[in-house]
Amino acid sequence: PLVSMKEMLEKAKAENYAVGQYNLNNMEFTQAILQAAEEEKSPLICGVSEGAARYMGGFKTVVNLVESLMEEYNVTVPVAIHLDHGSSFEKCVQAINAGFTSVMIDGSHYPLEENIALTKKVVEVAHAVGVSVEAELGRIGGQEDDVIVDDAEAAYAIPSECDQLIRETGVDCFAPALGSVHGPYKGEPNLGFDRMQEISELTGVPLVLHGGTGIPTKDVKKAITFGHAKINVNTESQISASKAVREVLAEKPELYDPRKYLGPAREAIKETVKGKMREFGSSNKA
Ligand code: G3H
Ligand code: ZN
Repeated sequence: PLVSMKEMLEKAKAENYAVGQYNLNNMEFTQAILQAAEEEKSPLICGVSEGAARYMGGFKTVVNLVESLMEEYNVTVPVAIHLDHGSSFEKCVQAINAGFTSVMIDGSHYPLEENIALTKKVVEVAHAVGVSVEAELGRIGGQEDDVIVDDAEAAYAIPSECDQLIRETGVDCFAPALGSVHGPYKGEPNLGFDRMQEISELTGVPLVLHGGTGIPTKDVKKAITFGHAKINVNTESQISASKAVREVLAEKPELYDPRKYLGPAREAIKETVKGKMREFGSSNKA
């Protein structure tokens, strides 16, 4: 069933695992991710960036596709459709009206008070219709679609500010930027575990780790121990999909039927996502 993130994240936090947000890029991604969740008996968060929604034909098209595939595949695990890095109040409302069950409002580039005011406004409309909300503080480095933050701008979240934002807005989960990066890491990630623990103890709210691609398993486990109940993954699925396409086309340069190279890409995404579900501990938790 389509649900908000609220209950799945509270259960995950209580039982010390994380639910993955896997980003949709096209139909094959959507198929692969839904099948992976059902086969692993894992709760699932489908992440949809504004760029991905534009590419796929709009918010409503994405919701219809997810719903149709869930019916076709007899999906029994809980699934949330979540707006990733929502850029404005208006975009969040559009996504909610189209049937999204969860939204992120990313006000991290605004001064604290503005971020709080914006997030609060989104929470009011979202909670009125049972939709969950994620907010962010600090700056996550790297690039994801429209969200670009260079190294110099990347900043760790400040615990007291996180606590204030969470208390004043009533968000369901919260993403403190603590050194994680969108896209591949240059070298080893350097996550701020001390602050992470402090923020988790101070706020008690389920935390969200963006930039889940390329974080060593030991750091993933530590982040879960320090309150992370949601981990976002996009680049890793994209890399495995592209690798599969390259291999097929290199082997058979004369090939032209997209199903012959996107089918293997879909299989590769599914295997990647299943691996993450096991790593995050969400398998058999649905
Ligand atoms: O919001 C989406 C994620 O944070 C994805 O990060 O592309 O580095 O896996 P990633
Ligand atoms: Zn992100």
